[in-house]
Amino acid sequence: MSDRPRIYVTRHLPQPALDRLAQSAQIAIWPGELPPPRAVLLKEVAECDGLLALLTDRVDAALLDAAPRLRVVSNYAVGYDNIDIAAASARGVLVTNTPDVLTETVADFTFALMLAAARRMVESEQYVKAGRWRTWGPETLLGHDLYGTTLGLIGFGRIGQAVARRAHGFGMRIYYTGLQRKPAAEFADGPTYVALEQLLAESDVVSLHCPLNDETYHLIDRETLALLKPNAILVNTARGPVVDTRALVEAMRQKPICAALDVTDPEPLPPDHPLLGLPNALVTPHIASASVHTRTRMALMAVENLLAALRGERPPFLVNPEVFSEKVISLGAVR
Ligand code: DGY
Repeated sequence: MSDRPRIYVTRHLPQPALDRLAQSAQIAIWPGELPPPRAVLLKEVAECDGLLALLTDRVDAALLDAAPRLRVVSNYAVGYDNIDIAAASARGVLVTNTPDVLTETVADFTFALMLAAARRMVESEQYVKAGRWRTWGPETLLGHDLYGTTLGLIGFGRIGQAVARRAHGFGMRIYYTGLQRKPAAEFADGPTYVALEQLLAESDVVSLHCPLNDETYHLIDRETLALLKPNAILVNTARGPVVDTRALVEAMRQKPICAALDVTDPEPLPPDHPLLGLPNALVTPHIASASVHTRTRMALMAVENLLAALRGERPPFLVNPEVFSEKVISLGAVR
């Protein structure tokens, strides 16, 4: 039997990454389009040294307990709210993610959502395809400008800052909020740090770029939605549960705010979900990082993280550095 480490990959990934992984490990890949059922995952991890997981896989204490050999969980995402980090750390399991490579791609997509919502792109396309375009109309499908309006960024990390750079080029005034002011990231004529309440009350577009955690769960709820301008656009490319979906639907029924959401709660939305019946909701299926180039780079990065951990090296993007110890993590060693 081969002494190469055993890796379970929970979905088919861009081929160059799988080829790279197969050079150094024995790999099994869940073949389905949907995530592996929980029972399959629990069974598969029982013999694994490494798990290459997606944001759709819940990695919790029960799963970690079912995987006595597991040394690393490499998440194919920058966000890692699907993983119980404390439980992994308590068991000496390294957790890694894929930051940086997707920043510009997600920022591009955020802007696409903003423009699509402001200029009614989806509705316009449906109008044409439905055969309703009969002439040039002075008041047909009027939208709103982004130029000259105010953008409020909730979360000013890598992606929030990349969105700010784009907004600057569009002539937008930029507010941001977060745990603390980041003077080093404030360029000339650029972002101003304000309190959440001011940002919500004065922004024409509010875009979410914070991680999902106990502090940000339902940050956008009935109270915060009530602060939005009547015609505001809410953009979410972060995580669905940052927004209280029920409160959002209620607010959108009461005032003409638009929501442009790449992430939702639940995810996916069932086809009969009330949000999908609202004309002022634009929903895409969690694809902000989905360019060929970026998804390939994310996969290669996830593989490099995983192999580094199994070689006993510090993975390039380690989420729980407190676990790292060269003595414990070495190829072939059992935790
Ligand atoms: C992430 O990486 O966290 C995104 O949501 C998927 O690319």
